[in-house]
Amino acid sequence: MVGIPREEEAVTDQPAPENPEGDEPIKQRKNSLYPGVSDELAENMKSGWADTELRDLRPVEQAPHAARRRAALSARFPGERLVIPAGNLKTRSNDTEYSFRAATEYVHLTGDQTEGGVLVLEPSGEGHDATLYLLPRSNRANGEFWLDGQGELWVGRRHSLAEAEQLLGLPSRDVRKVAEELTALDGPVRIVRGHDAGLEEALADKLDADRDEELRVFLSELRLVKDAYEIGQLQAAVDSTVRGFEDVVKVLDKAEATSERYIEGTFFLRARVEGNDVGYGSICAAGPHATTLHWVRNDGPVRAGELLLLDAGVETHTLYTADVTRTLPINGRFSELQRKIYDGVYEAQEAGIAAVRPGAKYRDFHDAAQRVLAGKLVEWGLVEGPVERVLELGLQRRWTLHGTGHMLGLDVHDCAVARTETYVDGVLEPGMVLTVEPGLYFQADDLTVPEEYRGIGVRIEDDILVTGDGNRNLSAALPRAADEVESWMARLKG
Ligand code: GLY
Ligand code: MN
Ligand code: MN
Repeated sequence: MVGIPREEEAVTDQPAPENPEGDEPIKQRKNSLYPGVSDELAENMKSGWADTELRDLRPVEQAPHAARRRAALSARFPGERLVIPAGNLKTRSNDTEYSFRAATEYVHLTGDQTEGGVLVLEPSGEGHDATLYLLPRSNRANGEFWLDGQGELWVGRRHSLAEAEQLLGLPSRDVRKVAEELTALDGPVRIVRGHDAGLEEALADKLDADRDEELRVFLSELRLVKDAYEIGQLQAAVDSTVRGFEDVVKVLDKAEATSERYIEGTFFLRARVEGNDVGYGSICAAGPHATTLHWVRNDGPVRAGELLLLDAGVETHTLYTADVTRTLPINGRFSELQRKIYDGVYEAQEAGIAAVRPGAKYRDFHDAAQRVLAGKLVEWGLVEGPVERVLELGLQRRWTLHGTGHMLGLDVHDCAVARTETYVDGVLEPGMVLTVEPGLYFQADDLTVPEEYRGIGVRIEDDILVTGDGNRNLSAALPRAADEVESWMARLKG
């Protein structure tokens, strides 16, 4: 998000020049203790406010990268009008909203994160003119500024359109006009669906579901290869995540005295202090909860002697997320069986990571890891071999459960709607970032495995960049081998 600047001090009696829409009556909340506004108060609130307009702002770091991506989008859809919304606030209850997270496509193409924003690419000559529609500063003359729940007095100062233009390098217009301006134009429109129902409804007779899906797919594929700026952001997300994992290890005794929530809260503190948020709901799964892939209730006990599967990622201020998992012995030492299973998963992950290199098939790292896991399951007598038969029939999947990884970027499951031929049936290229995350999960009620296995779940997940000649593990700072995990935990627990 574009940062809110410090306000300047020059005092003027002029109301802010923007947002001159003064006709709409401002709706007040029911049951307000201040139900009415006297003419005198309304008049009083119009003036006496400083001119805080910021001038000579530098473009944000993302601006040139976003411009390059818009150029690629323009080249793919010549002569077509394209609409990419940021999405809107969603009501939690009454007049409170969920925290807002701008649509990934919008962030990637603008560097902006403003709720309600809409990027429009209008055909022009050989290419397109890009315009960003945003909500201007609050009108002070009609009371919107202080009486409307989304007025700046309630939610904080916004950038003026002129400020946004400087920061983002895009001409900006009043978003309250966007539907009207777009409906007035002839010809079809492509929109990224699912983010702005109101705009989709207004443009319904210009839209076509298949054409819109082509746009969404293209934008998903546009994110497959990350540029140097994005790789830097992902590394920053991972670095914060490493610190968040260290925070958790340091408070495991407090988690034992309370619950998995202590772990969730501890990691969340790091995410909020250093980044925007967590990139997905943290999975803080102790004991048998580790066998539930997306355990986000995090309300269970944390017990010495059991394992903690922590799958969590910090999302940077620019919205790039890490996605890292470590499975840790809560008392600092793996039991013999825990270590055997852990080592099996570690070996599978090593094989998976070794298969990540430019020119390799995307599926290779999954196949390599699954082969190791199937071999372990046969070796431990949990499934009848040979390994080839197990793999052919997919019998290992009772315990391996999920694919071995996915693309990572602005979304934790990035590029999710890319075509199969460019993603899972595609080939790895330098600049791609993916997770390698094999696991073994023995459900507490799985009668096909010896009792001592039941309730053990292990996953190890790292974030891997495809380089020119192989790969780089962005999360290598977090120990993985069992011995290293133990000594790291001993060091942190003091
Ligand atoms: N944290 C979700 C995943 O690992 O894909
Ligand atoms: Mn994960
Ligand atoms: Mn993952």
